[in-house]
Amino acid sequence: MVIRTTPKNEVPKELQGAHIPRHIAIIMDGNGRWARQQGFRRVFGHQSGAESVREITRECARLGVGRLTLYAFSADNWKRPQREIDFLMGLLKKYLVQERGEIMDNHIRFTAVGRLDALPANVMEELRRTKEISAANSGMTLCLALNYGARQELVDALRRIGRDIKSGQVDPERVDETLIGRYLYDPEAPDPDLLIRTGGDVRVSNFLLWQISYTELFVTPVMWPEFKKQHLHEAILDFSRRERRFGAIAESE
Ligand code: FPP
Repeated sequence: MVIRTTPKNEVPKELQGAHIPRHIAIIMDGNGRWARQQGFRRVFGHQSGAESVREITRECARLGVGRLTLYAFSADNWKRPQREIDFLMGLLKKYLVQERGEIMDNHIRFTAVGRLDALPANVMEELRRTKEISAANSGMTLCLALNYGARQELVDALRRIGRDIKSGQVDPERVDETLIGRYLYDPEAPDPDLLIRTGGDVRVSNFLLWQISYTELFVTPVMWPEFKKQHLHEAILDFSRRERRFGAIAESE
C-alpha cells in the first residue's frame, strides 16, 4: 500500500487517522471561469490560482505528502491566445523566483516534467536554478508539469526505447512495464495515489495517463483559485475512505 500516516502533531483534527497519499497530482482547472464569474479578465484567475498553488504546496508539505505534481501548463495550452500564454509564462517565472525562499524553508525538492526545452529561455533558466538549489532537500517533491502531455511523454519514451533497441542496448523481448517506466520523464516518481481535478469537469485531459492506471480520482466543482486547504483535506478524507484493490479482491472476501 503506497500510503503513510503523518506525525500526529502535524495532522489537523479532521484528518486524524486518515491515510495521507504518498503522491497527489492536481489538474488545476477553473481559473478563467472563476475570474469571469467575478467580472475580471481570465488572467486574473491565473494570478489568484498562483495563491492556491502556494497554499496547497505548503499544506501538502506540512501533512507529509511525498510528492505533489501540479498540471501548470499542458502541451495543448499553446492553443490559447498569445497574451494569455505570455501572462502564464511571466507568472511562472515570477513564481519560481519569489517562491524559492518558501521552497527552501519547507525543505521542498523542486522538479518539472514535460517538453521543457520549448519553454521561454528565461523560464527554463529559473526552472534550472530552482531545481539546482533545492536538489539536496529531503522533504516533499514539488513537480510542475509544464508543456506536458501524457501522449507526448509516451512518444518521447518510445523514441528513446526505439533508439536503444537499435543500438543494441535494449532487447525488445525485455520491454515490459518496468522498463517503460524507466523511460518516462521522471523515472523515480511513484504513481499518484490521488488525482484531484478542480473546476468540475470529469476528464483527465492528457495528464499522466500511464501513471494513473490505479489512481483514485477526486473531482470537485470548486474552481482552482478557491481551492484551499480545507478542500484538500476533504479530498484526502475521501481518498482515505476508499478501498484500493489494484485488481485484487478485498482481504475479507
Ligand atoms: C486551467 O484553468 C489552468 C491553467 C491552464 C494554468 C494553471 C496555472 C495556474 C494555476 C497559475 C500559475 C501556476 C503556477 C505554478 C505559478 P483554465 O484557465 O483552463 O480555466 P477554465 O477552465 O475556467 O477556462
